[in-house]
Parts: sequence; structure tokens; C-alpha cells
Amino acid sequence: MSQNQLDEIKKSALNDFEKAQNRVELYNAKVQYLGKTGAFTEIMKSMASMPKDQKPVFGKKVNEVKDLLEKLYVHLESQLEQKEIQFRMQNEKLDLTLPGSQTVMGHLHPIQVVTEEIFKVLSRLGYSLRTGPLIEKDYYNFEALNLPENHPARDMQDTFFVDKTHVLRTHTSPIQVHSLENEKLPLRIMGTGPVFRCDSDISHLPHFHQVEGMCVDENISMADLKGTIAYFIKEFFGRELKTRFRPSFFPFTEPSAEFDCSCPVCKGQGCSMCNNSGWIEIGGAGLINPKVFEHAKVDTSKWQGFAFGFGIERMAIIKYGIEDIRLFPENDLRFLKQFNEQS
Ligand code: PHE
Repeated sequence: MSQNQLDEIKKSALNDFEKAQNRVELYNAKVQYLGKTGAFTEIMKSMASMPKDQKPVFGKKVNEVKDLLEKLYVHLESQLEQKEIQFRMQNEKLDLTLPGSQTVMGHLHPIQVVTEEIFKVLSRLGYSLRTGPLIEKDYYNFEALNLPENHPARDMQDTFFVDKTHVLRTHTSPIQVHSLENEKLPLRIMGTGPVFRCDSDISHLPHFHQVEGMCVDENISMADLKGTIAYFIKEFFGRELKTRFRPSFFPFTEPSAEFDCSCPVCKGQGCSMCNNSGWIEIGGAGLINPKVFEHAKVDTSKWQGFAFGFGIERMAIIKYGIEDIRLFPENDLRFLKQFNEQS
């Protein structure tokens, strides 16, 4: 490879670069000279057989030419791009009367929509959000909630066992215990998320969602619980609805109650939604059993609290008059689209 040959290559490269009419042609020219199998790779190879004393001088010149070509490429490329833009601006017309292409927007699942509505109401009362693990230690799902092994009340919740000491949580109540163990009192929390029970029919899903409310403070009584539930029902379903408490049993609350609201569909007159009773069962509640506090080492001479829990699918069914709970996990868009808040 001689100086003359290098000059020849430089000349022909400059010529080819300048000749390119568009960016594709320019790129092809670049590949031809500077690409992996291009002219300059050949030059580099041929330098191997060159006398040692000539190599540095010639090598420097080769690099200068390469440099020049690379700079020229960048310059020409932007020139050609500008030209292409100008050409399009002059020749393409914008037709504002053409129909637009519609983008399909997704939206939140109805269960998430309802969860957020519930949280909006409870956050106005000072509650903040918690979640907790879906695979729970038997201890948190049962034991710490005053449901010792072999306690008959365990039968109320048909349980999926993962192994001897772990279960898929059957309710959101274990979140109570995690917060009592880890957080400072006083405390108002709303725990939420999926729960699992070995149960499946028109009104039960093996995988559903719950909301858990817990308030721990000084001088808490059943009156605070009733006030909270009554406020929540009115805010969530409508101001005209009434709340009713019935005595019940949960091992982790004492006293315990189940709470109903007057049927939002018939306003208490009796209809198929409320089985003609005028009332609809919503969830369970009560004052926190001191035994739960003891497990979490909370000083019961100072602190009291209440807790309540209910299913979110059930709340959605009542609010929107849905007949079959199994529609929620089915993911049929004809059903889900009805909950698009934007439309
Ligand atoms: N965890 C109970 C259930 O799933 C509901 C509940 C929560 C009852 C809090 C009382 C207090 O049935």
C-alpha cells in the first residue's frame, strides 16, 4: 500500500460520499470504506507487511483520512436529513378531516376501583393503608388472633395449607397483628388485599379480597366502632342507609358483632337482593380481644381498640347490583368495561 493508493482511495471515498442522494446511499458508501470489510480494513491489513520505519508515518496518514471521512459523514448526514424533511414538508399535505386512529385505553379492575372508593372514605377518618404477606404463618393467621390449634372456630374458614406452619391467608386480620407488633400506638389502619378460602359457588370465590379496619387508642368503646361503621356505610352506599349490629362471635374480638346495612336497592322495603328482609349483611366487627393485644405485647391497661372486616367483591355486588360473584375473576371485557370510570 503506497501513499498514492491511499490518495486514490481518499479521492474516491470523498466523491462517493458527496454523490449520495439520500441517507441510505450515504450509509452504504460509509460501509464500503469504513465498514468491517471495507477499504480501510484492507489498508490496515496490508500495513502488516510494510517496513517498520514507515508504519508510524503511514498509519498517521491513514487515521487522518479516516477521521476526515467520519466527520464528513456526520455533516452530510444531517444535511441530507434536513433535505428530506424539507421535501416532506413541501409534498405531504395534512388532512385534518381524516378520522383519527383510536387508542384503546385500559382501566382499573372493578375490585381495585371499589377498594379505592372504600379507602377514600376511611382515609377521611384518618386510616392509612397496609397490605401484608399472602402466605402467612399459621401463627399470624390463627394463633395470634386467639384461634389456637384444634380450636373449632378454625372451621369457619376453610383453609389452604401451604405446609404445616404456613397457610394462604384466609382473612386480612393477620395485618392487625403485624401492625400491633411493628408500629407505634395510637393507630388507625386499613389492611387490604387478596385472601383465600377453599370455597366456591355463586356467592363465594376461593380467591377474593377483603378490607380490614383497625383503630387502637385510649378510651375506645363499642360506640366508636358503631359510629365509624355507620359513617362508612352512609358515605359508601348513600346517606339514607341505616346500619344494624347483630351479636356474633369472632375469637379475635370481644364483644363481636356482624353489621348489616338497609338494602340500598329497595331502601329496606324488601327485594330479591336482600331476600325480602330489607337488610344486607356486610361484615364482622368488634372490640379487639385483649388476648390479641397480649400476643403483640400491647399494654391493655392503656390501649383499647376495635376492628372490622368485610369482603370487597360483596360490597361491589351490592353497590352495582351484580348477580354472580364469579364475574369478577373471569376477565370478560364485556363485564369489565362497564366499570370504566372515564367513559
Ligand atoms: N376476619 C373476619 C372474617 O374474615 C372478619 C372480621 C374482621 C371480624 C375484624 C371481626 C373483626 O370473617
